[in-house]
Amino acid sequence: MKLTVFGATGGIGQEIVRQALAAGHQVTAVVRAPARLSAQGERLDVFRADLSDAESLRTAVAGCDAVLSGLGARGLKDARDGIAARLTRPVLRAMEAEGVRRLLVVSAAPLAPPTAEREPMLDRVMIGVVSRVLKPVYDDLRVMEDELARSATDWTSVRPPKLTDKPVTGTYRTQVGGNPRSSRAIGRADVAHAMLAMTEDPATVKQGVGVAY
Ligand SMILES: NC(=O)c1ccc[n+]([C@@H]2O[C@H](COP(=O)([O-])OP(=O)(O)OC[C@H]3O[C@@H](n4cnc5c(N)ncnc54)[C@H](OP(=O)(O)O)[C@@H]3O)[C@@H](O)[C@H]2O)c1
Repeated sequence: MKLTVFGATGGIGQEIVRQALAAGHQVTAVVRAPARLSAQGERLDVFRADLSDAESLRTAVAGCDAVLSGLGARGLKDARDGIAARLTRPVLRAMEAEGVRRLLVVSAAPLAPPTAEREPMLDRVMIGVVSRVLKPVYDDLRVMEDELARSATDWTSVRPPKLTDKPVTGTYRTQVGGNPRSSRAIGRADVAHAMLAMTEDPATVKQGVGVAY
């Protein structure tokens, strides 16, 4: 496949690029600072871009089979500024202008609707504490998800719990429309693995998907 990766210098983004190249895909990595991109390869194009300019992003997404985004706030200040929504908006506009449909982004587990089955007490307490501390992050991601839902794209919002730097295992749980029970952590490399696996999975189109060990 021909894939365009935004946030390609981030923790998940670098893994998407590395695993996509290893799987034989053609990758366009969209970055603001090419020196931070560690992956190399014949099938890798590096596209330096100002993400505030949807028009300049059209070249990066034109003709690709799917766009995968690891974009997100680097800290609470960026989240308060609504960075995830702000960075994703021009990606949506560029895709719509080029008629590119498939988009996978990173969101977060607390964005999933509450489940009928009650989570274990420890998980409920943890979710409550984390949701209060990281409220600006989740508010930003909620705006981003609302804009995905209103877009013309075939989006998937991948919702991990706490991220770790564990190497890729390929072994994790996923749940379309919710979170796997007692979701506590997943490695950035496995989030990337899940996003690549979902790229061609129609069951995940226009859905939030929880991922966790
Ligand atoms: N941390 C957790 O436990 C956790 C849990 C659930 C969900 N999440 C979500 O997962 C996302 C991805 O995680 P991660 O660890 O891969 O994030 P990360 O390493 O912080 O990567 C964020 C990416 O967004 C890009 N970015 C940020 N601000 C930008 C700006 N103003 N202009 C252009 N690009 C910008 C960064 O580019 P540069 O490299 O150029 O800065 C980087 O590529 C997080 O942002 C968060 O929303 C996190």
